[in-house]
Amino acid sequence: MMQSLVIGNWKMNGSLSANEVLLDQLLPALIDLKGVQIVLCPPFPYISQADSRLLGSQILLGAQNLNAQESGAHTGEVSARMLKDLNCRYVLIGHSERRSLYGETDTDTAQKLIAAKLAGLIPVLCVGESLQERQSGSTETVVARQLQAVIDSLGIETLKGCVIAYEPVWAIGTGETATPEQAQAVHGFIRRLLARQSAAIAERLPLLYGGSVKADNAAALLAQADINGALVGGASLDAAAFAAICQAA
Ligand code: G3P
Repeated sequence: MMQSLVIGNWKMNGSLSANEVLLDQLLPALIDLKGVQIVLCPPFPYISQADSRLLGSQILLGAQNLNAQESGAHTGEVSARMLKDLNCRYVLIGHSERRSLYGETDTDTAQKLIAAKLAGLIPVLCVGESLQERQSGSTETVVARQLQAVIDSLGIETLKGCVIAYEPVWAIGTGETATPEQAQAVHGFIRRLLARQSAAIAERLPLLYGGSVKADNAAALLAQADINGALVGGASLDAAAFAAICQAA
């Protein structure tokens, strides 16, 4: 039985003072939870603030993105090694907002994933279809393309030790959560796609669902056979909501 994994993606939100309030509320609610690994992904400027508050707890730190280059003339960018320096353990790769707003390609995603692994970070590879792609029946084609681009570029063994997050774009930030059945259908498809290439990797790789996960829908989603956790956006900024999601895991 795989341990549940719940990741809070704060996106571009927060302030030093607001983060202190959120962490003050979150820590007591999460500190003794068993059977679930909790990760917080603050914006880059607040990683050290979160790290100092999480010290001694079982809650781990993650980042929302990275630059695949090791160092150099990449103004404004952050490398995998820098995130490791800051005690990050996880890093989101290929989030739909990186793809849609910042033009990240499947190739960029593969390069970022391998840079994360080489630095000793756990990559969380994000995949998911748009509303138009779902309505046209292309969900599995899109998700397969996004996954296979990484596998074809780096080899299936590269996914060992990684996490995959299925985040239907039409459910992100919209309140239009995928039904447990819709989410399980895609998670099952991902598990089978991986199993055809490596049964060992498929059975051990955590598949997270993301897209309007809330306190009132988390239990039904997390009860699905191939949903091993959640990647939470908006609700991760509300201590009570995020704690309820983690307790449901
Ligand atoms: O990375 C998680 C995020 O994309 C989901 O956002 O607000 O729909 O939970 P939200």
